Amino acid sequence: MIVDERITAYINSLSQELPSFLSILEKEAIREEVPIIKKETQSLLSFLIAMKKPAHILEVGTAVGFSALFMSECMPKDCDITTIEKVEMRLVKARVNLKSTDKADKIRLLEGDALALLKELAEKESGRYDFIFMDAAKAQYMNYFPEVLKLLAEDGILVTDNVLQDGTVAQSRYGITRRDRTIHTRMREYLYTLTHSEELSTTVLPVGDGVTLSRKR
Ligand SMILES: C[S@@+](CC[C@H](N)C(=O)[O-])C[C@H]1O[C@@H](n2cnc3c(N)ncnc32)[C@H](O)[C@@H]1O
Repeated sequence: MIVDERITAYINSLSQELPSFLSILEKEAIREEVPIIKKETQSLLSFLIAMKKPAHILEVGTAVGFSALFMSECMPKDCDITTIEKVEMRLVKARVNLKSTDKADKIRLLEGDALALLKELAEKESGRYDFIFMDAAKAQYMNYFPEVLKLLAEDGILVTDNVLQDGTVAQSRYGITRRDRTIHTRMREYLYTLTHSEELSTTVLPVGDGVTLSRKR
């Protein structure tokens, strides 16, 4: 928790109730320890989608489909979502969950490794997505970045979750356990790249587990 727990709990107490099917899915995911977006991140995503009014959303990291379904509830009527997941255990649930709403025809689930699929998409759908949500293997964000940049439309928004790693990213490398040093180095490299890219303008927010908002110039 990177923000005082009491403050986060208070802010979350102000958030609007989820539609019941999402609330059930959220509880189930939490019970089964599936890492889904936190309340604070939900609120940020819904605000950004309401402002941006995207036409095509790309999500990297579906898990069981909670965030894709959440975004489908706040996106414009004609918007569609493409979401990527590779772990079979998650896909089994995602396939069912994503079919279970009236927005099912607006959601495309791509099954397989994100890097390979992003490369394929970048060849066919370059510049198509005006809203991209990165929420998959954190150590891979740097590898996804060139493809994601190709897929992001001009003026498009890239949201990346979990960038502050419970605050450990801000610590010196020497304060990090050996086991976590690779992810620490990679996340710092990713944050430096986002904030220094000439193609993006980026802000880093201490929301949830840390979120970056980037706009393609
Ligand atoms: C944090 S969870 C996504 C949570 C989801 N966005 C939500 O909030 O409901 C990250 C997901 O990325 C998936 N993932 C990790 N590495 C991946 C890869 N190389 N390709 C595709 N998916 C991957 C994991 O299996 C996991 O389900």
